[in-house]
Amino acid sequence: MRIGADYYPEHWEKSRWKTDFKLMNKANIEVVRIGEFAWSLYEPKEGEFHFEWMDEALEELAKYNIKVVLCTPSATPPKWMVDKYPEILQEDVHGYVKGFGTRKHYCFNSSVYREKCHILNRKIAERYGKHPAVEGWQVDNELGWANTTRCYCDECQVNFRKWLENKYGTIDNLNKKYGTVVWSQIYNSFDEINIPKAGACYDVCPDTQGQNPGLLLDYYRFSSDSVVDFTRETCKDIRAYSKYPITTNMLDAAVNSGTGIDYFKLSEELDFTSWDNYIEFQWGIAEDAAVSRDHALLRSYKKRPFWVMEQQAGACGWSKMGPAPTPGKLRLWTYSAVANGADTVVYFRWRSALFGLEEYWNGIIGHDGKPGRRYQEIAGIGQEMKELNKIYGKLLPKSRVAIIKSFDAEWSHSIHRHVENFQYDNYELEFYRAFYKMGIPVDFVQPSEKLDNYDLVIAPALIMVKDFELNNLASYVRRGGHLIISLRSGIKDEYDAMLPESIPGVFADMAGVTVPDFDPLLSKKTEISGVFGKGTADLWCDIIKPVSAEVLGVYTSDYYAGEACLTVNDYGDGKVYYLGCDLDETAMLNLAKYTGSRAGIPMELYETEGLERVECSDGTNYAQFLLNHNSYPVIVPLKTRYMEMISGKVVENSIKIEPYGVAILGLGKR
Ligand code: GLA
Ligand code: ZN
Repeated sequence: MRIGADYYPEHWEKSRWKTDFKLMNKANIEVVRIGEFAWSLYEPKEGEFHFEWMDEALEELAKYNIKVVLCTPSATPPKWMVDKYPEILQEDVHGYVKGFGTRKHYCFNSSVYREKCHILNRKIAERYGKHPAVEGWQVDNELGWANTTRCYCDECQVNFRKWLENKYGTIDNLNKKYGTVVWSQIYNSFDEINIPKAGACYDVCPDTQGQNPGLLLDYYRFSSDSVVDFTRETCKDIRAYSKYPITTNMLDAAVNSGTGIDYFKLSEELDFTSWDNYIEFQWGIAEDAAVSRDHALLRSYKKRPFWVMEQQAGACGWSKMGPAPTPGKLRLWTYSAVANGADTVVYFRWRSALFGLEEYWNGIIGHDGKPGRRYQEIAGIGQEMKELNKIYGKLLPKSRVAIIKSFDAEWSHSIHRHVENFQYDNYELEFYRAFYKMGIPVDFVQPSEKLDNYDLVIAPALIMVKDFELNNLASYVRRGGHLIISLRSGIKDEYDAMLPESIPGVFADMAGVTVPDFDPLLSKKTEISGVFGKGTADLWCDIIKPVSAEVLGVYTSDYYAGEACLTVNDYGDGKVYYLGCDLDETAMLNLAKYTGSRAGIPMELYETEGLERVECSDGTNYAQFLLNHNSYPVIVPLKTRYMEMISGKVVENSIKIEPYGVAILGLGKR
């Protein structure tokens, strides 16, 4: 584990560099990420390249033994390029062309832009690909940030048509799969197909929601593929000259609710994953369970340790700021990342900027360049990690529970969300949160992944699966796995069309139920009772008729009182639960305990409000992180004697954790 800083050598006088690097050394900051927005310095005019400034910066960083993640600068195409080649610009859903002035104003499919990136990226990779100060690469910056994955320009339209032709072969096939017979949408050729923009009725159905769902879903897939392809090309350019590992900084689901990029696919192009973690800032305050979920997603995309490439270091925002991190929180957030599988945490940013849009984005040190309390806190973390590294290698939680994350499902639900308050990510978080509260780590998996390492797999609202994915899930259960299927699962084909089978469609046999009726809840609550205690649903109620399944919960109000809402079915050596409704937080927690313990997972662990508890291992050594997200101290009872690894003290019976405090319980000596 180690820490780093996001740094902009080009924002400061060269005479200041030494002071900064010495301060970094003193704080045990071992790595900096640089160069992601520097195109106009590298190539101020078309074909005129300058690298001296970067040469000097790297040379100086090397003297202080600070390692570098170097970026490809494609997030900000310079003004001369935009003026000369306006066709590189993105177009939005209403046909507005995104102009120069901020960032991410380019189209991933622009052949001109790809060529310009190709030229500069290769030059950068060639020059620094073996540089001793460099240790890794970042592609672009926050791909898909601010709704930029989906572009509506002419070049995208041409590419989309090719993509469709490749997928469907004939236009008749596409017409059939999309059901274009509805509303006179039958196409005569692929050339007639437009990217689905805001439809004629967009004031009734916001943006594109009036468009054909099959066409929309394919367009979302195409857009994601375009970003993945852009990344693949960039990686190819880097790998032609460099063996250093490549990443790109992904976005959280908590604040950004998805970028429209299939991160599983994107991760296949990368050597390691990383993401940007802002917890309390202008755009909101993230719940600790949601941050933990985001960390879990990041370790899951490659099932490996990941980096936090940007972590909040001070009060931040653009026009206005969120709160200053209370003393202790920078450390708490850092260890929470480590507990969940991060091996490097890089703080954004080293020093608060004196100019530009982000003047209010406070760094480790302030505008005045003097080390203050945030610097001291981070230096303390650096010191602790130096000691901890004598004991621990790369830590990962050992997850016995997995939640299926399907980008097809996410996008399908975003096109038609079934009922006003349904949001796929939030719905998945409801399951995640329950296990999080019990200190049970959860991974995210694709429906096609090997599942044998998990005792319990949850498939929330898995609306569509391909045959091989269904077979994978079925054989996991037949071999003894436990699977929870829930509302809105298995009812569509991959073209976003409804299946003619009774609900739950392709899962009916495994679940041993049928669902002849359902009630989408717009503004009422339905009461429920079962192995999860007494509770309420306020989103959706499937009225379940068991075929071979046993009833574990029933509705107790409304016209379906007495009907089943939760069932379990024996299937092969395993079990399939069908949960027909959403559950309030307490009922969900009880369901987690019930299903977890039946899958053989000890569920009687701590349940201290606001305490994050993660058990990890580096393969040899054990670490149990106790992270207090409360503003008050907590006393955590202990069943065994442990060594608290940061202080080196033996703890027994109980341990007190200060507000925003951290403890790492180990078994060995220190
Ligand atoms: C993002 C970007 C950074 C910076 C910070 C703060 O996550 O990657 O370049 O803009 O946010 O806004
Ligand atoms: Zn485009």
